[in-house]
Amino acid sequence: MKYFIEVWGCAMNEHDAETLGGLIEKKGFIKADNYSDAQLIVLHTCCIRAKAEDKVIGRIGALSKIKKKRPEMIIAVGGCMTQQEEVAQYIQTRFKDVDIIYGTHNLNEFDKMLTTVLEEKKQVKNISCTDGMEIKEDIPIKRNDNLKAYVNIIYGCNNFCSYCIVPYVRGREKSREIKFIIEEVKALLENGFKEITLLGQNVNSYGHDFNDGTNFSVLLKVLDKLGDYRLRFMSSHPRDFDYELIDTINKTKNVCHQIHLPLQSGSDRIIKEMNRGYTKEHYLALTDYIFKVMPDATISTDIIVGFPGETEEDFQDTMDVVDKVGYDQAYMFMYSIREGTRAAKMENQIPEKIKKERFHRLLTLQNKKSLEKNKAMLGKVYEVLVEGLGEKGRLTARNRGNKVINFTGDPSLTGDFVKVKVIDYNTWSLYGELIGD
Ligand code: 5AD
Ligand code: SF4
Repeated sequence: MKYFIEVWGCAMNEHDAETLGGLIEKKGFIKADNYSDAQLIVLHTCCIRAKAEDKVIGRIGALSKIKKKRPEMIIAVGGCMTQQEEVAQYIQTRFKDVDIIYGTHNLNEFDKMLTTVLEEKKQVKNISCTDGMEIKEDIPIKRNDNLKAYVNIIYGCNNFCSYCIVPYVRGREKSREIKFIIEEVKALLENGFKEITLLGQNVNSYGHDFNDGTNFSVLLKVLDKLGDYRLRFMSSHPRDFDYELIDTINKTKNVCHQIHLPLQSGSDRIIKEMNRGYTKEHYLALTDYIFKVMPDATISTDIIVGFPGETEEDFQDTMDVVDKVGYDQAYMFMYSIREGTRAAKMENQIPEKIKKERFHRLLTLQNKKSLEKNKAMLGKVYEVLVEGLGEKGRLTARNRGNKVINFTGDPSLTGDFVKVKVIDYNTWSLYGELIGD
């Protein structure tokens, strides 16, 4: 029997899907190349914006139709979207063809749910919230890659940004014990992995719940000593991102000078309404310091336009930060109402037309900035990790700043660190040529 997992959303979800893969393979399934070869299809969902949910509903509808012709097919839907009780209920009643509905807290029990479906042939819906439960450490992980790996360090979120559904579906923060993180990273390095990305909704909170002095800087310093590799992390929170951490990143040998620092808005008034706990000035001081101590740093961000009550002046503050910081990459979103959050109840919701118009102005500015950033790389030499064949027969590789550089070379270089010189660029891509040592 074969399985196929379709993943929506963030890196955390991608990594969850690797855990699901491990649990499913324990039951004797093997991975299919595409969904049409699979007996078990899992939709691992995201609910951060309405659009993400709409896509999943469309997909369940399409799979239900296919199941009419292939009744032996097993459909599972789970993750953030179904962790919302009313959504799980809706899917259960509207789509009788869905066999398994699971949540975010009981992902580790997916194999048991699958057993029930296989043996008892009945629908299983279980999203029971076992918040506060121990983090299970003996779950097999089926990694999608053999060079780059994700490692969870903290689960959940305590921040309750007023627009965000995540704390409701992922529960409260819970740090993973440092010894298990070290063990996992060591094992990955022994198995030839070259790049590790530490994951958490807010990695800067790491260790706060231990009350023994363990924090994110301590973790980075410990992991830095485990070998020669690239160490990345996401996401950070500008409120908790301090100067000590920037100094730590600068002093370590393996931690990449690549920082994802979600701005969300550049307006102090909106940042406050968002419950984010910093100011535009604080944010700009942080990015200034990052570039001061690490001139080679790359910074990326997340921005929401059209948060309730956002005026043109507020929006101009966001544009101003984007202009001043010079992000290598910005993930931009139009505000989406998420029921149950504080912002959903706010008056002064912004009309879609205005959101779209602001989004396009911001996109145009960021594209200009991305082009400038890429242009500045022209003629420079970077060490890149070769990831494999990409488009048009070129090799695709990343530098320490996580910038993708494509170049012509032998596919046998995959997995190697090589040096390339940037010879061409556009807004979205960089092209290089291989150079000797
Ligand atoms: N509407 C639009 N974007 C959102 N994000 C989180 N919640 C919402 C929402 N309700 C964005 C934030 C966050 C990213 C993962 O998704 O920018 O950093
Ligand atoms: Fe959502 Fe804010 Fe937590 Fe990020 S920090 S997951 S935006 S509540």
